[in-house]
Order: sequence, then C-alpha cells, then structure tokens
Amino acid sequence: MRFPAEPFKIKVVEPIQKTSYEERVHLLEQAGLNIFGLPAEKIYIDLLTDSGTSAMSDHQWGALMIGDEAYAGSKSYYKFEQAVKSITGYKDVIPTHQGRVAENLLFSMIVKKGIIIPNNSHFDTTRANIEYHDGQALDLVIDEAYHPEVYHPFKGNMDLGKLEHTITKFGAERIPVCFLTITNNSGGGQPVSMQNIREVKALLARFNIPLFFDACRFAENCFFIKQREHGYAEKSIAEIAREMFSYADGCTMSAKKDGLVNIGGFLALNNDELAKRITNLLILIEGFPTYGGMAGRDLEAIAVGLQEVMDESYLAYRTSQVQYLAELLEKENISIIKPPGGHAVYVDAQHFLPHIPPAQFPGQALVVELYKKFGIRAVEIGSLMFGNKNALAAASHPTLELVRLAIPRRVYTTMHMTYVAEALTELFKSRNQIKGLRLTYEAPVLRHFTARLETVPPH
Ligand code: F0G
Repeated sequence: MRFPAEPFKIKVVEPIQKTSYEERVHLLEQAGLNIFGLPAEKIYIDLLTDSGTSAMSDHQWGALMIGDEAYAGSKSYYKFEQAVKSITGYKDVIPTHQGRVAENLLFSMIVKKGIIIPNNSHFDTTRANIEYHDGQALDLVIDEAYHPEVYHPFKGNMDLGKLEHTITKFGAERIPVCFLTITNNSGGGQPVSMQNIREVKALLARFNIPLFFDACRFAENCFFIKQREHGYAEKSIAEIAREMFSYADGCTMSAKKDGLVNIGGFLALNNDELAKRITNLLILIEGFPTYGGMAGRDLEAIAVGLQEVMDESYLAYRTSQVQYLAELLEKENISIIKPPGGHAVYVDAQHFLPHIPPAQFPGQALVVELYKKFGIRAVEIGSLMFGNKNALAAASHPTLELVRLAIPRRVYTTMHMTYVAEALTELFKSRNQIKGLRLTYEAPVLRHFTARLETVPPH
C-alpha cells in the first residue's frame, strides 16, 4: 500500500468550524495580516506547527491518571527517565518543560563571547539561545539543502568539508560542542543519514569536540534511515535509534514533537560533571530535578509517547501522509522542497509568486491568501522570519522563500490533506492576483511573531 490508512480509529473528536470569507478578511485586518494574531478557533485546518499539537493515544490519556505528583522522587519521573535512557543510552537525564529550556540550560554553561556552535541548520530558538549568550551559530548543511528541486535522500546531512574548515579556521578550543538537528527542521524537515552522523562523529573525535543532537524528530529521522539507507531495512526503529544516539554525547529534545505530547522536553548526556552544573541551574529556573517544569502526569505521557512514536505502522502512516500532500501539489506543478521531509511540506513561495520580490514577502502573501480564501493556517519561513531591516540590502533576504505546511501528528485525516492540496491548487491558478505586502510594524528581534503588514497598493 503506497499510502497506508490511519493506523488508529478515532475515539474523541474536536469539532472545527469553517468561518465565512468576510469574517476571515476582518480577522486578518485585525491581526495586521499576521497569522500569529488569529484566534485558533477561527481556523479550519491549522498547519502552523507540528509542535505540541499531537493527538495523544488512549494509553497516554490513561497514563495521565496515574501521574505521581510528588515534588521529589515522583514515580512518574523514574518511568520517564527509563524511557529516555532506553532509547538514547545516555545516563544523565534532565527534564525540562520544552526544548528551548534544554537548549538554554546547556548553552548557559558552555557559550560565551568567541564561542562557535556549528549545526547542519540551527532552529530559531537554538540560534537565539546561542546568540543570547554572545556565541555564534553556524549552519553547515550540504549545499543541496538550498536547492528545493534537487533530490537528495538525506538533505539534512552536515557538509564535512565546511565543518572541518570551520574547526581549523576558529580552532577546536572555541567549539565546545557541535550539533546535528534530526530531522533538519529549518532545512525542510530533512533527515541526516547514519553514515553522515558516523563521519561527523569521527571528524569531531579527531579534535575532541562532543556531538549533540537536537533530537525533536528523532523517530522520523530513524524511519528515513530505515527506508533509504543501505543496511537498515531489517532493523527496528529502536535499534536504529540506539545506534544513532550512540554516536553522540548528548541531546536536547522537545517532546512536543516525537514525544507525542502537548508539552515537555529534556536534556540527556553522558557527562556527570556538566549534568550536575546544569541541574543546579535547573533547580533555580525550572524545577526540581525529578520534574523539571512538568507535572507528573506529563512525564507519564512522554514515557508512553516515546515508545509509541517508534511504532513502524505509525511512522509509515506519518511520513506517507506528508508524502501524499506533497505529491498532490507536485502534480499541479507547485514547487516544493524535494523530497518532502518528515513533518511538513515546504512550498517554494518564490516559485509560486514570481511577480512578488523578496522585499514584499511572497511567503507571507501566500500564507495570508491561504487563510483568507480557505481558512488554512500555514507559516512563512522566509524574508519575514529571517530578514532584518538593519542588515545590508543584499544580506537581508534568506536564500529561500518558503511556506511550511506542518502536519500535526495523528490529528488530521487524509481528506483534510486533500482539502489543503485543492486550496493551494486553486490559489496557484489565480496567483497573478496575489499582491505583495509591506511592514507597518516590526519588533527588533523575532519580528515575524508580532509584525503587522499591509498589502502593497498596485502602481
Ligand atoms: N529544535 C527544533 C528543531 C525545533 O523544531 C524546535 C521547535 C525546538 C528546537 C524548540 O522546541 O518549542 O519545545 O521549545 N519547533 C517548533 C516548530 C516551534 O514549529 O517547528 P520547543
């Protein structure tokens, strides 16, 4: 079966409503053409993010009831710790309420001015947490990642040449850790191959630099390895995960993705001394080491979710639902990042709207139209998100103008995906009528969250 049906039946439903065109026009005006400002209940299909939006299983809901809310030594913590250890093999497990806190705790300890942290591509919170501590975050993904049309089975791979050059240029003493984001969210949700992970580790070992994973979507990465990399077809996801994690010295994790929960995260590592220092900071800003900002019931739900996410029938359905949407779009000649990643389809907005220059935010113009006409919320990953009014004109626009359609886990059916594809197809046919946008307000940092925009009037 190319597109396996959902490997679950639906026990609880949440109604979603279609609003009228006029209502959506009004809501967009109020929100300053920024979809972050929309009330979620006014959205028909919400593809803003796959983070914290998963549907939990009956087992997870059941586990919530047995959550142990003891302040110290909660029974639920030990289950959580065991789940993390059995997958990663790391001995120090530090719970956090979401991924960015794990990043913040780690970087608070190891980043200061002059420090360089390489990654295939940093996610925006990872980059921001490094830069907040005056460090420099470098993206060293292979060049194929910047060409949407070029097929590569592991477009999230680190460019080993760029990594070696970086180490020799800055010196290993300025690089306390190197990251690999699996899958590479900022680069299209693209996987990293086991071979690349092994080679990155070997290179880093020559310079005594530890390797960490940003492991939010580890199970999706493992599934791609199983499907696409020689020698892994017969291995279980747990075996692949165990091998993968064995090449790294630690990881940060937002359980809001492949933990299949609505909140949670952790930092796991093999470094007692560093773990002890991080734990002291954890107690100060997040919580006691056996809950770290989560309720006992959250820990229970993660322990179950981490196992469920490695189920192959789930992963086959999950990745093929993304593939299904991608193929419907490609059939209509809508350009996307190829191949589609594990959690989202990324539409090439510059190809979709060639008449709108980057300075007029083609990605955001598409996002606005998709909501206005069809009630679908997507997110722009382009000039609005990464541009900077203070940068030089040439440097102020990113390489790609993308619109991400992130698919929440176990939430929408295939028919919802068909609706999304038909909506984009309709828009594509009348794309000449879509106009560019300009900013009327922007914050100095992370401007996309609060920016206000207006349509550029026709000349
Ligand atoms: N790393 C990656 C690769 C992520 O995709 C995210 C979150 C984080 C770290 C931070 O985790 O939100 O739990 O603090 N990504 C979400 C997204 C927000 O929409 O892609 P967090």
